[in-house]
Amino acid sequence: MIEKLEQAKKVILGKFGEMPKTLITLGSGLGSLLEKMKIEAEIDFSQIPHFKSATVAGHFGKLVVGKLGTQRVACLKGRLHYYEGYSMDEVVFPFRALAWCGAQTFFLSNAAGGIHPDMKPGELMLITDHINVMGNNPLIGANHEKLGTRFPDMTQVYSIELRTKLLEIADRQGVKLRQGIYAGVHGPSYETPAEVNMLRRLGADAIGMSTVPEAIALNHMGKKIVAVSCITNLAAGVGEGTLNHEEVLSAAKHIQESFSLLVEEFCNVVSE
Ligand code: HPA
Repeated sequence: MIEKLEQAKKVILGKFGEMPKTLITLGSGLGSLLEKMKIEAEIDFSQIPHFKSATVAGHFGKLVVGKLGTQRVACLKGRLHYYEGYSMDEVVFPFRALAWCGAQTFFLSNAAGGIHPDMKPGELMLITDHINVMGNNPLIGANHEKLGTRFPDMTQVYSIELRTKLLEIADRQGVKLRQGIYAGVHGPSYETPAEVNMLRRLGADAIGMSTVPEAIALNHMGKKIVAVSCITNLAAGVGEGTLNHEEVLSAAKHIQESFSLLVEEFCNVVSE
């Protein structure tokens, strides 16, 4: 593992020089942030050792470094999902590699279905905690002490300090940012209404198919994480009608503007 991380690091730092301290991951349909960036350089996942290529529409798989506002940041456009058939190790490898290269703060985003009645399509939810319903964990297997401890604490995966900052920014910008618990499922089928009902009773406010593996692996490495869900639909059975990926992408597009403003200001603030 460490050798693989070193190989990826060599290529990444060879391309970008120094790794920015902040990394932003853009979830489904949230790529327009890149248009706000003054791009310095970019590299396809396929060119980085041990990075697999994303296969889903709306996720391309490239790493971009550039200026967002006044700050130099890295941006992952496209992520690998467990449902694509990748192992947990493969899903989290890009995140481990960027952390290994020196990134300290990770802004994760995703598209999610709203479970709590307050989580309506078109709104943003700050993730306060998660429920792992993926039936797997990226830390299973031999522990790599150089990455982190065997039994990492998970009491505060999503940094309270960063969450407070983001809430203040949203408030200043007049963006509604609700707070809630994200349930990470493996997909790829959407949930049944009965499954959504079960997760609601277990305390989930929104549901999606990503973020949890990355958060576990980054927390293991002691990195700071903040994560936002863009609520793209009501989860199955919460509203009427059925779900499809095109609708999720199109709803995410409508939230992009307020999402981008929030992320841009966040990068300015965390780098101060
Ligand atoms: N369920 C799971 N994943 C999702 C959803 C959903 O309703 N919406 C966007 N990603």
